[in-house]
Amino acid sequence: MSTALALADRNVPRYTSYPTAPHFSAAIDAGVYRGWLEALPPEAALSLYLHVPFCTELCHYCGCNTRAVRKRGPIDAYAERLLDEIALLPMLHGRKLTHLHWGGGTPSILGPEWLQKIADRLGATFDLSALKEHAIELDPRRLDRTLVRALKNIGITRASLGVQDVSPHVQQAIGRIQPFELVEQAAAWLRDEGITDLNVDLMYGLPAQSVRDVARSAELAAGLVAQRMALFGYAHVPWFKTHQKLIDEHALPGLAERLEQAQVAADTLVSLGYQAVGLDHFALPSDELAIAAREKRLRRNFQGYTTDEADALVGLGASAIGKLPQGFVQNAPDLAGYARAVSAGTFATVKGLTLNDDDRLRGTIIERLMCDLELDLAAFGGPARFAAELEALAPLAKEGLLRVDGARVAVSERGRPFVRIAAAAFDAYAAKSQKRHSVSV
Ligand SMILES: C[S@@+](CC[C@H](N)C(=O)[O-])C[C@H]1O[C@@H](n2cnc3c(N)ncnc32)[C@H](O)[C@@H]1O
Ligand code: SF4
Repeated sequence: MSTALALADRNVPRYTSYPTAPHFSAAIDAGVYRGWLEALPPEAALSLYLHVPFCTELCHYCGCNTRAVRKRGPIDAYAERLLDEIALLPMLHGRKLTHLHWGGGTPSILGPEWLQKIADRLGATFDLSALKEHAIELDPRRLDRTLVRALKNIGITRASLGVQDVSPHVQQAIGRIQPFELVEQAAAWLRDEGITDLNVDLMYGLPAQSVRDVARSAELAAGLVAQRMALFGYAHVPWFKTHQKLIDEHALPGLAERLEQAQVAADTLVSLGYQAVGLDHFALPSDELAIAAREKRLRRNFQGYTTDEADALVGLGASAIGKLPQGFVQNAPDLAGYARAVSAGTFATVKGLTLNDDDRLRGTIIERLMCDLELDLAAFGGPARFAAELEALAPLAKEGLLRVDGARVAVSERGRPFVRIAAAAFDAYAAKSQKRHSVSV
């Protein structure tokens, strides 16, 4: 194994937050969360994430918090609970929301009536007049014109379409049969209705997937001219997501091939006019995400890379994570626990973390590194303070994956897939982490 590959042969977090969720503790409960919400300054800009943990069927690779449901009952009951949870937020009445994101699972499974009802309730609770983005994650296989019209009616401005890979043999291996025409149809319907900001999700590292499959998927996806594209490396964590045992491990590409797939997909997208953004996103150069990346204003949150600069993120739904100035909170991940709490009139918070000064400092360092792929430690107390961290970066520097020059750390273009490993050098919790993450590239 080459030295660069040996460096990648590690399991590290994706750093959508710092500290990462495995370090949250039960010390943060519903009472603490209520206090934090009540202390939010009235002028704080808020962002809201709403989680819907249902899909019609499960894709073998899925790492999201979701389950397969065939009947309306659990979906209707869950939608009621979301209304209960919104009713717990009178302290936020009239507050400005800048970003609203429906994620999942497949949130559109709620159907037009529930989407409208929940959106109406959010509209009655928050001031949506300053909303910059109203986004939803969609499964192109589960879309029709009526649903798209409903999305337009509730004010959706951005839709994210799951594509993953276009080849039938990969789709077979991942349990997700999705002819590309379905994706083209979905994009056309959305644009017809005026939902013109589109994201496409692609994946590499999937079973039976070759470098050629990845390149072809990137090429076809680029033909959709979506403003943004995400390229996720398949995170195989069957000890945590047991249905991933349906994936044939012998058919998974090795580390060297994963790296090549990521590189070829990135080269393809860049050659077709996309700008690489952070670790795993791409955007047309005129898109706000690409502009924010160039201007070093990019942010990273639980949904990945974003332009969202809100002061606080309110999470609704089972497993949803919120971030307040004081720290993180997470709702019960199980449906029963979530439903029990909110129907009894309390928040479903089961864990969280109060940020200390060191968490904030390292959180900013890791976010800047993940977003800008460079860092000036002069802004964080100087390089002498981070001697051990800089030493941990030395093997990456030796391989030309990054450069350390005094207080400045800069990840090279070849080092882009390794940025999580560079970030891990600044993670004070990494050493004590007992959790197993997915492979680093
Ligand atoms: C909530 S899903 C997208 C919306 C919709 N449910 C769909 O699949 O079309 C979010 C995205 O996460 C990515 N994803 C899911 N499981 C993953 C895993 N194990 N590793 C890496 N990415 C994963 C996929 O690209 C997927 O499109
Ligand atoms: S990838 Fe999307 S559709 Fe497939 S199981 Fe996960 S959330 Fe559901």
